Amino acid sequence: MLRRLHKDQPESFAFTPANLAWAEGQITKYPAGRQASAIIPLLWRAQEQEGWLTRPAIEHVASMLGLAYIRALEVATFYFMFQLQPVGKIAHVQICGTTTCMICGAEELIAVCKELIAPAAHSLSKDGNFSWEEVECMGACANAPMAQIGKDYYEDLTPEKLRDLIARFTAGEVPVAGPQNGRYAAEPASGLTSLTQYASGRAAHNASAQRAVDIGDTVKLIEGTEVPLTTPWLGSAAKTTAKA
Ligand code: FES
Repeated sequence: MLRRLHKDQPESFAFTPANLAWAEGQITKYPAGRQASAIIPLLWRAQEQEGWLTRPAIEHVASMLGLAYIRALEVATFYFMFQLQPVGKIAHVQICGTTTCMICGAEELIAVCKELIAPAAHSLSKDGNFSWEEVECMGACANAPMAQIGKDYYEDLTPEKLRDLIARFTAGEVPVAGPQNGRYAAEPASGLTSLTQYASGRAAHNASAQRAVDIGDTVKLIEGTEVPLTTPWLGSAAKTTAKA
């Protein structure tokens, strides 16, 4: 698949103060002369800020790292995790279409995306709220078929479940991520067969889903204020832009 920059680009890009503090902190994690190694996290945070990776954002990151623009462009166009076109305002839906998910019903999920979002991948829905694409295995094969919506995994999906999720996101809800069929995590569908002593007293959701619930995550774009900066070598001044 050809990956090119979108024909319509904004005039400029700048990190928010909180994201800038975070980005500058990431750069200091690398030895002198190796700052270019921070390119993936910085491009990712730029994408998180705006939803997709714009040409001005790529240029901005290249300049922060002292890189020729073409070097940053090579990275941005190589990795499919970087969205080079606008994505839905509410969420970008990534349907896993690899073997396990395909066997378990990924094609039906893609059909729902085509019907409810847009006939073609990487296109915006009419209201601009959603976009979708088919992706390769996301490592949640035991909970196939699954989709990544925003930053989280929604697993054990059916076409009806996916329709319901899209409706709930449209209504402003944030459905709990993780298995959508009552499973806790990736245990057998018939229930735990081992480690049963850990079933009592556990949190309401598995660790990943519970974390998303606790910090109000899933489709919200990262603002840089969600967690404290973990760059203690920069001193306390650098932490003032991020709330504890
Ligand atoms: S095949 Fe879909 S998550 Fe692995």
